[in-house]
Amino acid sequence: MDQEKRLHELKEILEKAIYDYYMLDAPTLTDAEYDSYIRELIAIEKKHPEWVTLDSPSQRVGGYVASQFPKVRHPEPMLSLDNAFNADELKDFDRRVRSAAPDAEYVVELKIDGLTLALTYHDGVLARGATRGDGEVGEEITANARTIRAVPLRLTMVNEGGSGTNFAGTMDVRGEGYMPKESFLKLNTEREEEGLSLFANPRNAAAGSLRQQDSTVTAQRKLGYFAYQLIQAEQMGIRTQTGVLEALSALGFQVNPNYNLFKTIDEVIDYCRRMTTERHGFSYEIDGLVIKVNRFDHQRELGFTAKSPRWAIAYKFPAEQVETRVLDIEINVGRTGVLTPTAIMQDVLVAGSTVSRATLHNLDNIRDKDIRIGDHVMIHKAGDVIPEVIKSLPEKRSGSEIIFHMPADCPSCGSPVYRLEGEAAHRCLNISCPSRQREAVIHFVSRDAMNIEGLGPAVVSQLLDAGLINDASDLYYLQYEDLVKLERMGDKSARNLLNSIETSKGRGLAPLIFALGIRHVGVKVGKVLAGRYGSMEALENTTVEELVAIGDIGEIMARSIVSFFSDQANLEFIGRLKTAGVMMSATRAVVSQELAGKSIVVTGSFKTWERREIEDVIELYGGKSASSVSKKTSLVLVGENPGSKLNKARELGIPIYSEEEFKKLIGLN
Ligand code: IVH
Repeated sequence: MDQEKRLHELKEILEKAIYDYYMLDAPTLTDAEYDSYIRELIAIEKKHPEWVTLDSPSQRVGGYVASQFPKVRHPEPMLSLDNAFNADELKDFDRRVRSAAPDAEYVVELKIDGLTLALTYHDGVLARGATRGDGEVGEEITANARTIRAVPLRLTMVNEGGSGTNFAGTMDVRGEGYMPKESFLKLNTEREEEGLSLFANPRNAAAGSLRQQDSTVTAQRKLGYFAYQLIQAEQMGIRTQTGVLEALSALGFQVNPNYNLFKTIDEVIDYCRRMTTERHGFSYEIDGLVIKVNRFDHQRELGFTAKSPRWAIAYKFPAEQVETRVLDIEINVGRTGVLTPTAIMQDVLVAGSTVSRATLHNLDNIRDKDIRIGDHVMIHKAGDVIPEVIKSLPEKRSGSEIIFHMPADCPSCGSPVYRLEGEAAHRCLNISCPSRQREAVIHFVSRDAMNIEGLGPAVVSQLLDAGLINDASDLYYLQYEDLVKLERMGDKSARNLLNSIETSKGRGLAPLIFALGIRHVGVKVGKVLAGRYGSMEALENTTVEELVAIGDIGEIMARSIVSFFSDQANLEFIGRLKTAGVMMSATRAVVSQELAGKSIVVTGSFKTWERREIEDVIELYGGKSASSVSKKTSLVLVGENPGSKLNKARELGIPIYSEEEFKKLIGLN
């Protein structure tokens, strides 16, 4: 096809995908499909740099490396808001408002806990993104802002189909950039695996991500954006804050849907109370509500103080710290041998869920905070997610509290515990320590590693205890007869487990490298290594110098990788995986050819697989998965709650397979 035509087609596909995802909340492309279209687009743009435009979806991928962020002056200063912490302070605010605007109404919006991000559009195209800075002057972070998919690169007055008139002139939009709780958790897990420092909460993580010199890093962080302010609203004939929110939405921005218009402060207070209890139910963190006088003429009447508008106030949720008691401190031996002390606490409700355990990280942390067994302590959830002991309350001690000591011997295998020079951690150095092996197997089968379903920690323990496995490589030699003998393992779950073990053989090199549990090697580094080396064998023979030269890998990590592959026991482990047929190269292995040459469209949900796994299964059996039904489609795989693709398949007379029929087709039972 004509390259220029394809370029426009790709742009359209990608823009529609973003529109479907953010505006309709109905994703139409998988992440993998999105990435492959982006790659195709970038390939064309590389050949024809003259075709690259600022609003091309390729600009979201990042890559621009700035040495410093230029300073930019905001067209209008960014003010901060006064705070209210209780109903009385909200009533005071209401009295002040009513003295100037007796019939004011209030819009109440969620106060998203991220950072202000100002966007400037010229003739409808994103020209600049800037942080708040000191309110007058911020930092220009346009390249980073572009990587946020919820930030429109081009504004469109959208109607139902997602197309319409372009907006001309300059437009300044303000809103909140934030990191969803799920991305925050994932990011910190990866950082912990890679031995990097953790972010305290999603807000810090979002701020750190937006101030990255390399915007490809920002792109990976999966930030979100909610718009709430439009500087030129008046000129556009908009008269109210609700009008602003509607206009922003029509222009293609994500507007947080949880806003409400109220006539009286009592209704506002009720809503604040309700949201205080529901605050943890969102996929992002909120730290309060923002109450704004709705009509602009009323806002004008009220005006500003030196720092903040008189027509708005932030209601801040009470900080959620609760008191409980430490009943015991337990030691957990992780897969790298680190002994992690965990506080076992009296059950307590915090940030929306009951908490009874919190990691205490290491002995230094316990000493710094002087946490003793039996102590009353204050706890909270870091970033609304991770339970953490903030401090002990020594004034409440009875004298019977016990000072904690690290055991001299590993609680799992009894071998001596060491604290290595310069490390905060205490370690068990015995590589065949049962606790370490159990954790290693749990890691090996986990989602981001080999993703073997039906193999939770309880089953892993059963297999180890029954002597059916000694390490993860033994999983590939399990027999049906071994499994059905186990307690609570029926015929069906045994077969399913064997199926998912079998499927995992073709999982690929990157997840396999991660699954090996090499110290400091997380999911991301697994991908980098798989991309650079292409096969396990090549990686086995690498050197520290070669690894460091890649750029993404530091000296400590490089040493850890080389030392892992110089250990005979590890090489033997990999050898057993290889013999069992586990794929050892980066190109996807095809385990069989049942689906060879078939183009398959999937719709609905399934019992055996999650949606994102089905593509892997199809490829594993030699097929190709496609996103929409056409005459070229070989078959449509239909699960529960199928979408319109089913009707399309019927119209075109394409063979329709149920989950059971499909499993028969590829020889799974
Ligand atoms: S309105 C003059 N609305 O909270 C109006 N702010 O000081 C200024 N924030 O850091 C802000 N969600 O970035 C507004 N729905 C919302 C908000 C919001 C979060 C942040 C804002 C600023 C702070 C207010």
